[in-house]
This record gives sequence, structure tokens and C-alpha cells, in this order.
Amino acid sequence: MVRPCTNDYFKLKTHTVVEYLRQKLSGNSEVNVNDCLSNNYFLARSKVTVDLFNDEVIELQHSLTLIKGMAANNVDRYWRSVQEVAQQAPFRKMQTPGGQMMSAEITNCGQVGWYSDRQGYRYTHLDPLTGQTWPTMPTCLKALAVDAATKAGYPKFVPDVCLINRYSTDSKMGLHQDRDERDFTQPIVSVSLGLSANFVFAGSQRNSPRQNILLEHGDVLVWGGQLRKHFHGISKVLPGDDPLTGPYRINLTFRQAL
Ligand code: SIN
Ligand code: FE2
Repeated sequence: MVRPCTNDYFKLKTHTVVEYLRQKLSGNSEVNVNDCLSNNYFLARSKVTVDLFNDEVIELQHSLTLIKGMAANNVDRYWRSVQEVAQQAPFRKMQTPGGQMMSAEITNCGQVGWYSDRQGYRYTHLDPLTGQTWPTMPTCLKALAVDAATKAGYPKFVPDVCLINRYSTDSKMGLHQDRDERDFTQPIVSVSLGLSANFVFAGSQRNSPRQNILLEHGDVLVWGGQLRKHFHGISKVLPGDDPLTGPYRINLTFRQAL
């Protein structure tokens, strides 16, 4: 599959960061350019290395690593696997414990699946929609998550769940913590496919200072350590028609839950 620009980050090398951001956000009035300027100042100062596999590993801050475009390479396999999972465990909207409908559609694969309804947030062994176990985590997806965690400094990460979120351009994900897992020494590995989004990374409190991170097709973000329970969310999915996912952004969140 050919994309006009598979890795926008490379543009940073030829444009100034500010110019890059202005272009990216033009027409997107909900994103505050000033917020993003400070964020990208931050991005410009982060440590970038290119590893043996030619992946750009960007340490945005200690324990927050962006591996730019890493999943774009074998993306057809990953995408096929996501579709197979969704055939067995369809995407569906879930309710928060407070009774609100989440705007992204959700499914899972792995030993357990993350679930939310009026009874609370939890991991379940069975998919409440089908009554069946959640689909097995496809080997290629698990390998991607393990590779990414290793690059980010977590070589012992063995994910047992992959939460899959499907966003349309009017979906968001409010600021939240991932804290339903047992072992917080294990990181979160988050893979983005399709449409780009503005990912908000805050601190240990909901009202801590926020950092905006533009996540594009193929990007893998890993966070752990002191940041493991930091608040994060999706404030905006940028409109577009993606060659792979059409009108959607797909996010795969790998965790070690049990
Ligand atoms: C999540 O935190 O559950 C999803 C984040 C994302 O979609 O990038
Ligand atoms: Fe999360």
C-alpha cells in the first residue's frame, strides 16, 4: 500500500517544528496552537535515535517513548489480524460506570478483555456480547508490542490483552488513567493506525499540565515507570480518508493485565 507521506516526522528535519505544526493544525480550530507550540518545542528537544531496524526512537520524556511509524512496515498483516478479531468479537460501544456511552467503539483480543458497563471497569475472560472467550491475540500483534516495549527499555513485557479502539472523527477519549492492571511496573504499548489524532498526555492528576502528541499512522507510543498511571486521552481525530482504515483511527493498547 502506497501512502503519499508515510512518516511526517521526517518533515521535522527540513521544516522548523513550528511550521510543521501550523501546517498540521491548519483548519483544526479545536486544537490550541500555543499549546502545541510548547509541546513541539519539547518534541524538538527530545532525544532521537535511529536503531538497527531503522526505526526512529524518540524519547519525549523519561519513560515516554514514541517510535515513529514502527507499525507501518507490516501493516497489512496487522490490519488483517484486527479485522479477524473484529469478526469474532465485534466493535461495540460501551457504557461508563456513570452511564454515559463512550464515543469510540471497542473490542479486545488476548487472555482477557477490558470491559466497562454500569458495574464498573474490569477485565473479563468472556466477551459479554458473544458469551465466548475473547479472540486469541494474533502472534504478529503480540510480536509488535514486545518489540516496541523492548526498544523503549521494557524487555520483559508480555502482553496478555490488546484493547482495540475504533474512532471516527467525532469520537474522543476523555482523560483517564489505565489502572485496572495488576503490575504497574509493566508499560503500556499503544499502536496507532489510520487517521491521525491529538493524544493528550497529562500528569498524575487530571489537571496536571498537558502535553499534546500528534499520533500518526504506524506510530507506537510506550509509557511506563513513573508515568505508568498518568492521565491521557484523545482530544481530536483529524479528518481524512485513510487508504487502510477509511474514516477511522484504530488504536491498539497492549497491556499486561493479569
Ligand atoms: C486509551 O488510552 O485507551 C486509548 C488511547 C489512544 O487511542 O491512543
Ligand atoms: Fe488509556
